[in-house]
Order: sequence, then structure tokens, then C-alpha cells
Amino acid sequence: MAEQYFTLKKTAEMFGGLHLKERIEELEEQGVLPESKRFRSGALFRKGWDVNEMPLIGEKLGYFKKFDRPLAISVFTTKGGVLKSTLALNIARTAALHGHKVCVVGLDIQGDVTTALGFENDLDNQQDLLEVIEKLNRTKGLSDFFNNQVRLSETIRPTDLSNLFLIPETPELVALNDSLSNINRREFWLKEKVIDALKEHFDLVVMDCSPNWNKLTTNALVACDILVSPLECKINNFRNFKVFRHFLKEFKDEMRLGFENIFIPTRYTKNRKLSLDILEWYRANVEGCTEHGVRENISGEEATALNLSLNEHVPGQEVAKEMRELLKEVHGRIVNYCEFLQNRHVQDNDQAFNYVPPKGEAQRNSWMY
Ligand SMILES: Nc1ncnc2c1ncn2[C@@H]1O[C@H](COP(=O)(O)OP(=O)(O)OP(=O)(O)O)[C@@H](O)[C@H]1O
Ligand SMILES: [Mg+2]
Repeated sequence: MAEQYFTLKKTAEMFGGLHLKERIEELEEQGVLPESKRFRSGALFRKGWDVNEMPLIGEKLGYFKKFDRPLAISVFTTKGGVLKSTLALNIARTAALHGHKVCVVGLDIQGDVTTALGFENDLDNQQDLLEVIEKLNRTKGLSDFFNNQVRLSETIRPTDLSNLFLIPETPELVALNDSLSNINRREFWLKEKVIDALKEHFDLVVMDCSPNWNKLTTNALVACDILVSPLECKINNFRNFKVFRHFLKEFKDEMRLGFENIFIPTRYTKNRKLSLDILEWYRANVEGCTEHGVRENISGEEATALNLSLNEHVPGQEVAKEMRELLKEVHGRIVNYCEFLQNRHVQDNDQAFNYVPPKGEAQRNSWMY
């Protein structure tokens, strides 16, 4: 769970760096930001804010501003343990801390993102098995929604951040994956029944996928505006990556999908030449690869284990700064993509407006005008 309060120093670091301290105090004085409170820290009292005041501060001062439209991000590649869930968690929590209303959709039967958002992790500490089973049975997921047993809204759960929500993974996702194979428009169910509906209520939807190329992941590809794919900086990922890129391109072309693909180098090691060479190769040869990445790091592991983003856990550390730079870059790419969509929309409208139909067609298409 997140800490109870955030000091001025931590707040400034989380949203961009210590240079923000003065600005935060200034805005607090002007009444633009909520007034800080005194919190006990050991024997001392310190000034700080409650976790639920962070989105107000992030929205005013942070680097991850809201987008001009609701968006869906999928995190997927066909390799396990390459920081998919970690990136999903960091993107979702960072966006929520910047005031976006976010819903994470867990699509991996392993349930890592569900655990990482603090859901069900108190179960192990409970004594009574029957109570635990009862609680698990009460958890409704996408499979129950597919079978018309619950409404979509009943699958959405709160988290420790007031504007971050979760559709948790349940064991029945396996059955849902099979059921999706047997329906018409089998690749479109998630988009049409779930994600489009969520986009009416949330600024951002983040889907965490398993490393398997299954129906849930193809549905997540169809449903996303942005695909985030980690690129592990290890030699055995090289071959895997080429096959993945090939499959992805084929699927994207065949399904006529227009999502933006952001590749992010992960798990690189600064003092290993091979790892750095691979990182450079990705940057030079993979279209859509980010300049910044996530290095192999113990604080990263700790943060995920504590259900926090890296920036909440150790905002002053170099790795957290790197994560901020990466997220700024990802944010910039998404803004550019939104502009591209906006321009295309204007162009399409212009074309429709300027279009002079050939003789005969005008009558056939008269309903258009
Ligand atoms: N910067 C980091 N360096 C090393 N390990 C990290 C870092 N950040 C997170 N980890 C740990 O690496 C492990 C794998 O990460 P994660 O679960 O995000 O991978 P994944 O791609 O989602 O895996 P899977 O394919 O099983 O879903 C986790 O235990 C996580 O806590
Ligand atoms: Mg995962």
C-alpha cells in the first residue's frame, strides 16, 4: 500500500524534481493547491499531503498531463518476465497521480497486476479458509460479464488511489479465452463490449497482457490505441523479438489496426557491454523504440513488491529519474499520436467536404450530403 503522506521534497521529486518545491509552496499559499498538513514521522512532525491530494498537485504541476481524448493502452510482447506488468503499473499509477481517471484491466491469468494493485493480497493473512473462499467467489471478472452474470460496472474495483480502478483477473479468464474463440467477431469483443464503454467513464484504460499470443491478447491489440512492448536487453530476447515483430505486423495489417507501437528497452545492465550493445541496437534499428529505458534494478523489484510505482517508492533515486524521463517520452509520443489522429480527422472531413462525386454517384450517395 502507498504511504500515508508525501512530504514537500518527495512531492516535488515525484512530479519532476526538487526545483518544483518553491512553486508548490507558492501555489499552496495562493490556495491553488490543497493546504499541507503536519504528519508525524518518527519523533518529528513534518509537512506533507495525503495520498489522495496527490492527483490535484500532479495535475497542476506534473509532466503527465491529461490527453485530449480517452485512450486505451495495451502492454504486450511474447516474452515473459520482461516488465510488462511493471510498466502497466507504473503508467497507470503515474497517470492516476497526475489526475487522470484510470482503469487497469488485467488480462493475464497469473494475476500479477491484480496483486500489484493490492487486490486480494490480504487473503493470505486471513485465518478462515471458508471466509477466503467466500471472498474469492464474490470477485467478479470479465468472464462473469461475458456470461451476462454481472454488469460491467460490477467488475470494476477501487484501489488505494481514489481515481485508479481495476478489473481484476479471475481464474475464469481461461474459460473466457476459450469462449471468445467461439463467437462471431471474436477479436472485437473486448473493444466493443468493454473498452469502448470504459472510455466513456475513464481518461485512460491500461490492459496488462500475458506473454501468450491468445484470444485475450489479440482482443487487447484490437482494443488499444497505444501498444507498449518491452524489449528485454538480453541476448535470448533478440530472436524472440524478430518473430514477435513479424507476427505483430501481419496481425496489424490483416486486421487493419492503427495503434501506435511504443517499444521500451528493459532490464539493461549499465556495466555489461553486451547488454549496452543490445540497447544501442534496439535504439538504432527498432522503429518506435524509446530513447529511455528501464534498467535492471533492485528498487524496481521492491517497488512492484510494495505495489507502488518507482516514483512513489524512491523518487530521489537515479532509477526513478530515468523512469520519469521514460514516462515523459511515452507521454510525448502519445500526444503526437493524438495530434496525428486529430489532423487525420480534419483531413478526412475536408476530403468529404471537397469531394466532387462523378456523374451518377451523386444521386446514389445523396444521403451523404
Ligand atoms: N527494474 C527492474 N529490474 C529488475 N527486476 C524488476 C524491475 N522492475 C520490476 N522487476 C521485477 O521483475 C519481475 C518481472 O516483472 P513483470 O512481472 O513486470 O514482468 P512481466 O513481463 O509482466 O512478466 P510475465 O510475462 O510473467 O507477465 C517482477 O518480479 C518485478 O518485480
Ligand atoms: Mg505480467
